Amino acid sequence: MATSHKPTGTPVPASGKALAWIDARFPLSSTWKAHVSEYYAPKNFNFWYAFGSLALLVLVIQIVTGIFLVMNYKPDANLAFASVEYIMREVPWGWLVRYMHSTGASAFFIVVYLHMTKALLYGSYRKPRELLWLFGVGIFLCLMAEAFFGYLLPWGQMSYWGAQVIVNLFGAIPFIGPDLSLWIRGDYVVSDATLNRFFSLHVIAIPLVLIGLVFAHIVALHEVGSNNPDGIEIKAKKDENGIPLDGIPFHPYYSVHDIFAAIVFLIVFSAVVFFGPEMGGYFLEYNNFIPADPLKTPPHIAPVWYFTPFYSILRATTSQFMYALEIGVLAYAALIFLKSKLPAMTRLAAVVIAVVAVIGMFLFDPKFWGVVLMGASVLILGGLPWLDHSPVKSIRYRPDWHKYVYLVFGIAFVVLGYLGVQPPTPVGTTVAQICAFIYFGFFLLMPWWSTMGTFKPVPERVTFTPH
Ligand code: HEM
Repeated sequence: MATSHKPTGTPVPASGKALAWIDARFPLSSTWKAHVSEYYAPKNFNFWYAFGSLALLVLVIQIVTGIFLVMNYKPDANLAFASVEYIMREVPWGWLVRYMHSTGASAFFIVVYLHMTKALLYGSYRKPRELLWLFGVGIFLCLMAEAFFGYLLPWGQMSYWGAQVIVNLFGAIPFIGPDLSLWIRGDYVVSDATLNRFFSLHVIAIPLVLIGLVFAHIVALHEVGSNNPDGIEIKAKKDENGIPLDGIPFHPYYSVHDIFAAIVFLIVFSAVVFFGPEMGGYFLEYNNFIPADPLKTPPHIAPVWYFTPFYSILRATTSQFMYALEIGVLAYAALIFLKSKLPAMTRLAAVVIAVVAVIGMFLFDPKFWGVVLMGASVLILGGLPWLDHSPVKSIRYRPDWHKYVYLVFGIAFVVLGYLGVQPPTPVGTTVAQICAFIYFGFFLLMPWWSTMGTFKPVPERVTFTPH
């Protein structure tokens, strides 16, 4: 390595001089220290804490493979399907890039669902991490939009009819619905105009917002610091240098964990990409290998698996279900009025809103309310920091029966997901309706159930056994 000499005779490596030159003009070393080598994370992280970094890895995979796909993809209704086949058969390594991107979409949702589960179990959305959580919910909404717009691009039967069904849903909104769906499509049916705008949204608009939100998510995380499986704030106990007693530098202690997790992830990811990229029709639906045909509706149109829990809630909203929903809404308003500690005016407002909603349920089509419930089932996540009133954050110190509440919620979510990929049946619809009640009940009744039971004492310091 080339070295130069200061007049004092102390040798300064060229790399050190280069770094000093940069640091005088850009906060490189200080940023590295603040966010990596001297970012103190709780020492009791477990495997759940790898999924945030894995989500970042998948984001990079999606962006890089996306850039290469766009080089050969044609956003034209007459050429799109064939251009994807061209990528698969003619472009060198095109098949790999395409399968990595399609598998990456499902991997993104698997990783993000696990990442959200961690936050749910350890109460990571609670004060002071509300904004971090809200950025996360924003990311989740963007991911859903990104996947939806991207799915139209191969211009297969499922791309076409899936988009048709979802855009038609907006038509159910009273008064503005038909115009709104026309505006989204840019035509009376899904067409070349729709493909062009979805392409634009998929490759530039949503990724920009997504990257911005991920940045804000990490800035917010580093502002407040990570939570941990005990749900204890490590910043409450610091040494004389202001370093949390239970904190360890992210690098090298967790960078090495995350690299290990990335290797395990990439092994599983490669196994899917190389040996089963269709994943039995769950990652790539069989109907999507048939070019889009506006004159031929497939017998069973189902969204990709990661949307199905929410789609099931939409499908469960039948006219009979509306009666149960009306009773549910009125009962919930009565509960707020009689049993909540909210100010009198807020409680009264809740009753008025409930009565107006029930009148609306008589006036407007159940299809519209299905759309409302589907949207609400995602947006309600944003309310978690204010719905959870438990005196402790982590599930570890909650009453044991709370674990069953989480378990029943988890099962209801998975059952909704399963039913959403199946063709509707009367029994399936009834089960989905019960699961929809469990899903919303979990969140809406949380202000009450989260405070009930005998809580375990939370230790002063994090629990940690060296390994
Ligand atoms: C592109 C998607 C995402 C990326 C790249 C990402 C990235 C990260 C990273 C690197 C961390 C720190 C490591 C960890 O705790 O796992 C983190 C923490 C966190 N994320 Fe995300 N995230 C994403 C999506 C989400 C979503 C959708 C939510 C919730 C709706 C969410 C909620 C949280 C919370 C609450 C924490 C703090 C966890 C704790 O300290 O216990 N994130 N995220």
